[in-house]
Amino acid sequence: MTAKQERLWEETPIDETSQKRGRKRPDGESTTNVVLSSYIGDNAPVFREILKLFVPAGSTVADVTCGKGAFWKQVEEGSYKVLATDIQTGVDCRDLPYEDGSIDALVLDPPYMEGLFRTTTDEMAGSGSHSAFRDHYSDGKATEQLDGTPKYHDAVVDLYLRAGQEAKRVLRNYGIFIVKCQDEVSANTQRLTHVELVNAWAEDFYCKDLFVITRPNRPGIVRLLRQEHARKNHSYFLVFVKRNPRYPKRIRPTKGELTELGLG
Ligand SMILES: C[S@@+](CC[C@H](N)C(=O)[O-])C[C@H]1O[C@@H](n2cnc3c(N)ncnc32)[C@H](O)[C@@H]1O
Repeated sequence: MTAKQERLWEETPIDETSQKRGRKRPDGESTTNVVLSSYIGDNAPVFREILKLFVPAGSTVADVTCGKGAFWKQVEEGSYKVLATDIQTGVDCRDLPYEDGSIDALVLDPPYMEGLFRTTTDEMAGSGSHSAFRDHYSDGKATEQLDGTPKYHDAVVDLYLRAGQEAKRVLRNYGIFIVKCQDEVSANTQRLTHVELVNAWAEDFYCKDLFVITRPNRPGIVRLLRQEHARKNHSYFLVFVKRNPRYPKRIRPTKGELTELGLG
């Protein structure tokens, strides 16, 4: 990471000079310390900011594809009640052991590219620059390819969508659904995963925000004969709010609903 890029991660203190001089401030603080929609770097600092912005401290947060817990590296310990599970701990994100409406926020980051859904392990993540992700970003096992089940990119989306159904069940109304994903070119066709997900979930979840994370280093290219698409070097965090099925157009709870949810 260059010095310039690193600066993006420095905490910018709230500007106190105007307060000291006793100037009137019409509305709120004048500050550069705001959460931005795009960052260069790792997931962890962005995830920390997303939680700060959308998930009140003390909330119950289910990270249903927690892997090695990399997202949580910069979150202050004890600030949330974290339920961390993964297929590797025996919990499938499509079948969670939680009561309906019992979770305040849910984090989903399943294997996000088709290369991680292969029928033999030596093919997984391809043989190129993605192979390093094989162990970290999947359970390292081959995918059983049943007849008639989705393949390649459709298998990626299928897992997200099934996990989304389960998220809808366990999240309380207006609960926060944080989803990590990356677009991909599959079978030489552009597949904008984030658009597919936002559209597929529109009825059940309001997409409140989108964050772009750009890799700080250049991705390695292996045996490229002719480039057809831009090489992806960015991914997304999508932040959704679960709609109240009784009032599907409402995107934030009313005072009465907050009281009903025990949050008022
Ligand atoms: C991209 S990694 C997640 C990395 C994680 N966010 C972290 O911070 O370390 C994908 C994870 O999804 C898990 N996984 C794959 N299929 C799953 C499933 N059906 N249910 C739950 N977890 C699954 C893998 O074991 C892997 O740990």
